[in-house]
Amino acid sequence: MLFYVTTLRGVEDVTAEEIKNYGKVLEIRRGRVIFEAPKGFIPKLNAQLRCAERVVALIDRGKFKSLDELYSIVKSHDYDFIKGKSFAVRCTRVGSHNFTSIDVSRVAGQAVIDSFLEKHRERLKVNLDEPDVIVRVDVIDDEYFLGIDTTGEGLHKRWWRVYNHPAHLNAIIACAMVKLAGWKFEESLIDPMCGSGTILIEAAMLGRNISPGKNRDFAYFKILGEKVEVSEENNKIMNLKGVEKFKKHVDGAKANAEKAGVLDTIVFEVGDALKLEGTYDCIVTNPPYGLRVSRKGAIEKLYDGLCRAVKRCMHENSRFVVITSEFRLMSFLAEKNGLNVFHERFVQYGGLKTKLFIFLK
Ligand SMILES: C[S@@+](CC[C@H](N)C(=O)[O-])C[C@H]1O[C@@H](n2cnc3c(N)ncnc32)[C@H](O)[C@@H]1O
Repeated sequence: MLFYVTTLRGVEDVTAEEIKNYGKVLEIRRGRVIFEAPKGFIPKLNAQLRCAERVVALIDRGKFKSLDELYSIVKSHDYDFIKGKSFAVRCTRVGSHNFTSIDVSRVAGQAVIDSFLEKHRERLKVNLDEPDVIVRVDVIDDEYFLGIDTTGEGLHKRWWRVYNHPAHLNAIIACAMVKLAGWKFEESLIDPMCGSGTILIEAAMLGRNISPGKNRDFAYFKILGEKVEVSEENNKIMNLKGVEKFKKHVDGAKANAEKAGVLDTIVFEVGDALKLEGTYDCIVTNPPYGLRVSRKGAIEKLYDGLCRAVKRCMHENSRFVVITSEFRLMSFLAEKNGLNVFHERFVQYGGLKTKLFIFLK
């Protein structure tokens, strides 16, 4: 069966690497990976993929020129699986068009209704708020992707997040950073500005093989039944540490880690990243971004101090992985403090263009 997953732009290669454990990757596109896997893997893909937002079972894809043509394409397929259920069409549109994503949803929704009506003499129920089945029609420039959303609420929304840091990192990015650091479970990993602990919790869950999609519902439940396939966990003890300036966030990080079942393998401390001591194999963090002009000077001082502290705590094989929207500043200050860029890439994070760096000593 053909599938695609959506993910964040800039980490598609990390997502594709994960998918290789379950199926054959056919194409890597901007923000999505198209692959082939057995239909029976739908529960496993949803429960176990760490760097994907949504798993869509692909019905059809191709090029189109107008909404009328899209209507005919969508109508030409069978929607027997919606029988006795309600549905809604959701659309993501990328590119410049003379129609909106709402137009696409409306036209495609009508096409699904008309197709079913012709075949079954029965009108399907539409429920825009809580549909049983979500049909996805994603439009990217002159291409359409028609499929069934098997996920529902995005996979990046982790079940363990009981404390919501106002600037918490998307778990997909956190996990991708740990993977890109090349962290091995026996290596030490520190997040010196850990906030609510996302990076460390994702690392611990990776080490213990805890499924990110445990303890939640999925859209496929209404079609395939409520089956969840989590992976087999272990009790590995890892060397993970988080430092954070505010006690409130440290308490929140502990609550999150406890919920995730990994608090026994992460040490969280209130402290100052600029006074970091010790030696670490991996230093992975997302510092505050100076989005407000008034904070630019303070951010420069903070990044300068962070780079100096990190450099002090690295040995010759340590990796420092950092993501920020202040990438020019970070690049300049890292170089000034004697850190060498090993790798850099843009990651689109909501409306923000951020850069992920891997620095070596
Ligand atoms: C963007 S947030 C990190 C969010 C975190 N990755 C998460 O997912 O919750 C940056 C964090 O750095 C902390 N911070 C700022 N300056 C610091 C310093 N000098 N030492 C330690 N933490 C600091 C802030 O309090 C904030 O919680």
